[in-house]
Amino acid sequence: MTYIEILEKARKNMSNLCRSCPVCDGKACRNTVPGPGAKGSGTVAIRNYEAWKQIHLVLDTISENKPVETKTTLFGKEFRLPVFAGPVGAVDMHYGDAYVDLTYNEILVKACKEAGILAFTGDGMNPEIMKVATQNIKANEGIGIPTIKPWTQETVMEKLALAQESKALAVAMDIDAAGLPFLKGFVPPAGRKSISELKEIAQACGVPFILKGILSVKGALKAKEAGASAIVVSNHGGRVLDDTPTTAEVLEEIVQAVGEDLTILVDGGIRTGQDVFKALALGADGVLIARPFVNMIYGAEAEGVNTLVQKIQDELIDTMEMCGAATIDEITRDMIH
Ligand SMILES: Cc1cc2nc3c(=O)[nH]c(=O)nc-3n(C[C@H](O)[C@H](O)[C@H](O)COP(=O)(O)O)c2cc1C
Repeated sequence: MTYIEILEKARKNMSNLCRSCPVCDGKACRNTVPGPGAKGSGTVAIRNYEAWKQIHLVLDTISENKPVETKTTLFGKEFRLPVFAGPVGAVDMHYGDAYVDLTYNEILVKACKEAGILAFTGDGMNPEIMKVATQNIKANEGIGIPTIKPWTQETVMEKLALAQESKALAVAMDIDAAGLPFLKGFVPPAGRKSISELKEIAQACGVPFILKGILSVKGALKAKEAGASAIVVSNHGGRVLDDTPTTAEVLEEIVQAVGEDLTILVDGGIRTGQDVFKALALGADGVLIARPFVNMIYGAEAEGVNTLVQKIQDELIDTMEMCGAATIDEITRDMIH
């Protein structure tokens, strides 16, 4: 099946909260939460997507005509390209009950490993989600990153033990999840965390600790102080606060502040290999793509994941060839405008 055929098939398997659009640009779902949209006005997801389009590629084909290589490493492991599947939780609530988090993560983790990339798994109110996701990661030789919500320290430590048992490559926390409407008032509570609380978690981790949901230099410096090894520059796809900046807008200043010390990943509206190239040119070490992987799984499971990865890789190769970068490390700031 082609990418578009998979999207069409996914549409039939979903509730109509997601329209499985040819381009996932946040417009049709706008402020649909529950559903895959963004909070409040619903404009943050739309602006995330559009911000990448406002960055342009500088054509330069006066370079050696040698094959292009998209391989990269993350925490010492080699991957096919610097693109990873972002965490998505409560898929049944947001996309329809053809899948639940347990089945979604099982398919996603395995399919991403087979496609040569890695999946982040999401967390949820049901403790089974983290239990099963970490079992899936273990079954896939630790190629996966569980993302723990900022629960109480006690609950985080319990989930951390599961992550450690799975030999996961790293552990992430979506520190911005405090803003999720359905987590407000939940018991045990999930909310903001201080630098000292995060330090305790980073020290207990034993593997790189990633803070997801950093959107400013100030936040990035706090993540560094807390002992994080990496951050994901992210506004959670607009789902935690309305009217935030887009990730493309803040990425470069964050890279300038902490890029020497931390691995920097970015997400939000990244949909093509061209967008990936732009993020790397702004200094990111890799990107996360979240919503489109859901459409691929609802449409064709592992085949869908591989189709999306192949599509992004083909586009990235084309862009690298046309802008004069033969390897990921050769992608530089002057290649975008
Ligand atoms: C329905 C839905 C559920 C999500 N669940 C999680 C989650 O459990 N943990 C998390 O860190 N991010 C979660 N996210 C945020 C994504 O990982 C990602 O940051 C965001 O969607 C932006 O990337 P995208 O534009 O490629 O979708 C969720 C996003 C959506 C749309």
